Amino acid sequence: MTDQWRCAGHAGDLSEDAPLEFKLDGTEIGIYKVGGELYALENVCPHAYALLTQGFVDGDTVECPLHEAVFHIPTGKCLKEPGGRDLKMYSVRLAGEEIQIKVA
Ligand code: FES
Repeated sequence: MTDQWRCAGHAGDLSEDAPLEFKLDGTEIGIYKVGGELYALENVCPHAYALLTQGFVDGDTVECPLHEAVFHIPTGKCLKEPGGRDLKMYSVRLAGEEIQIKVA
């Protein structure tokens, strides 16, 4: 079966300190740019309900806006509790100016 990619936004709308929010079949995904690379992570904080893209990006980490858990964007690792666990990662790529997320 061939891979399927879904358009998730325009590269021009994404910057290092302003992630994008995208919903893939009801799943919230946050798209980040760090050091020129794109990363796509589960966007609902595992601790409670907060969208991490509405938190604070600091270099290669994002801090939850609700209780300040910190996650490493390139790996999804929880670096500071109370995140509870690591974040799920999604495959993301650029096709021209289009950001695309791989559909599992
Ligand atoms: S909801 Fe994110 S740390 Fe509590």
